[in-house]
Amino acid sequence: MQGASKTALMVCAYRARCSRWERPLFVDRWAEALAGEDGPRYAEGFDRSWPAMEQWMALRVAFLDRLVGITTDRLGVRQVVILGAGYDTRAARLPYAGVRWFEVDHPDTQAAKRERLAALPGYPVDAATYASCDFEREDPIDRLRASGLSAREPTLVIWEGVVPYLTEAAVRATASRLAAGLDPRSLVSFDCVGKNMADGVKLNDQDKQTRQFVGDLAEPVRFGSDHITPLLSECGYRWVRSVSFDDLALQWLGDYKRERLFRFQRMVTCSASVPDAPWL
Ligand SMILES: C[S@@+](CC[C@H](N)C(=O)[O-])C[C@H]1O[C@@H](n2cnc3c(N)ncnc32)[C@H](O)[C@@H]1O
Repeated sequence: MQGASKTALMVCAYRARCSRWERPLFVDRWAEALAGEDGPRYAEGFDRSWPAMEQWMALRVAFLDRLVGITTDRLGVRQVVILGAGYDTRAARLPYAGVRWFEVDHPDTQAAKRERLAALPGYPVDAATYASCDFEREDPIDRLRASGLSAREPTLVIWEGVVPYLTEAAVRATASRLAAGLDPRSLVSFDCVGKNMADGVKLNDQDKQTRQFVGDLAEPVRFGSDHITPLLSECGYRWVRSVSFDDLALQWLGDYKRERLFRFQRMVTCSASVPDAPWL
């Protein structure tokens, strides 16, 4: 990535659109203003490659919002970390009592976000603690501890829309540090694309265009996996659950459509210990 993330503005624009659905899965009332003029322009371009992206975004956000609700209500989580936060507004949107929010991002994106937030009347900028980190070269745990995160309390880590853009070395280093450096009851949740998308092989025309589009925004897809459990095991995780975007669509949109091309896309949630929550 060179400079502040453009894909972060793009997905912010998609959140604004999803918030206008007749029956929205979530409402982000800040997204439209944060996305500015560039965000919708990138999203319109991306629509031409992958028309199902708006639905995909709605499902990803809804899945993670629900995870915040479950882990704070039922697992006693009082610290939520957003890794690669972009223009995430959960700290403002989901203000659970007693929950501390930490946003970690590449310094260029974080600076751009804070500039936009400062110009947004009424946004509770202090709802999150901000820490910068380049996952390709720096340790997020060091940054988080220096910002006041407790390693003795369970944490929910949301790593949304970031893993595909990292090298495998950075994914492994970051995942390993999270497993070793947080309270073992912590959970980490992220989205993962398939290996062919990352490698750029055996793709249909639509997938090729999608890959090309984000590459042209200076954020090439670098990491994907069809079976993430071995990597997570090597990084120190003991419990892994994943769900495909087809399954999320069936649950929340009420149907299955092969042409959405959701089947190789997954939400993965993992922990260094087995959660005391058989329903999770
Ligand atoms: C597609 S955006 C997702 C933003 C946000 N999580 C969301 O879903 O709206 C990708 C994010 O990954 C971050 N990112 C990419 N490479 C990074 C790196 N090497 N270190 C830290 N953050 C990185 C970008 O700064 C950006 O915020």
